[in-house]
Amino acid sequence: MGYNIAIDGPAGAGKSTIAKKTAKQLGFIYVDTGAMYRAMGIFLMREGIDPEDEKAISEKCREADITIRYENGEQVVYLNGENVNGVIRTEQAGTMASLTSKNPDVRKKLVELQQKLAADADVVMDGRDIGTCVLPDAQVKVYLTASSAVRAKRRYQELAAKGESCDMDTIEADIIERDRQDMTREISPLVQAEDAVLVDSSDMTIEEVAARIMSLVKKQAE
Ligand code: DC
Repeated sequence: MGYNIAIDGPAGAGKSTIAKKTAKQLGFIYVDTGAMYRAMGIFLMREGIDPEDEKAISEKCREADITIRYENGEQVVYLNGENVNGVIRTEQAGTMASLTSKNPDVRKKLVELQQKLAADADVVMDGRDIGTCVLPDAQVKVYLTASSAVRAKRRYQELAAKGESCDMDTIEADIIERDRQDMTREISPLVQAEDAVLVDSSDMTIEEVAARIMSLVKKQAE
């Protein structure tokens, strides 16, 4: 087994920013599991599958071949041979991912892929169920969170920087709804693993959070 760092937490807590930075500092591979669920969500949406139709999702998801490659140090997600990095970052893809990730067959397929990636590589993996389910033996586990107001503000600034018009209250309502979906589903809900360290980034800078995680890695090695 490689050295595994698991970072879980709700939408918008800064997981990917922190995981990417930590991976770079340590020379590890960054694995973004949300991107895989987003690619699956896009596939099911394109196929016209109703996100509430569990039977159709279970059948259709078998036809989605999702693979990961690393190109110029970036994770690229391929869906049946197509690079979908450019289309998975929308709110619609996130919502579809959240809805369809409830399905046990979708989870089984993607968890297998994630475990394979971590089996013989040093990885920083982020998601919702990494410490609890995908990598229960990870050497370092972090549950990264922030208040919904702070997460909405960060998301608002991100969208505004891209020149997209948005409304803070709508963004916060969407974030709260996504938390509810991810935390209350039956299979592998978002929950802090017993042995995960809670990091609340509401009043922390990116550098402070990254330093905190590096200190956990150092402590674990002692
Ligand atoms: O982290 P993200 O916003 O890209 O994730 C999109 C959705 O995918 C998230 O709302 C729930 C689902 N997901 C999951 O169920 N398990 C993971 N390990 C990662 C994401």
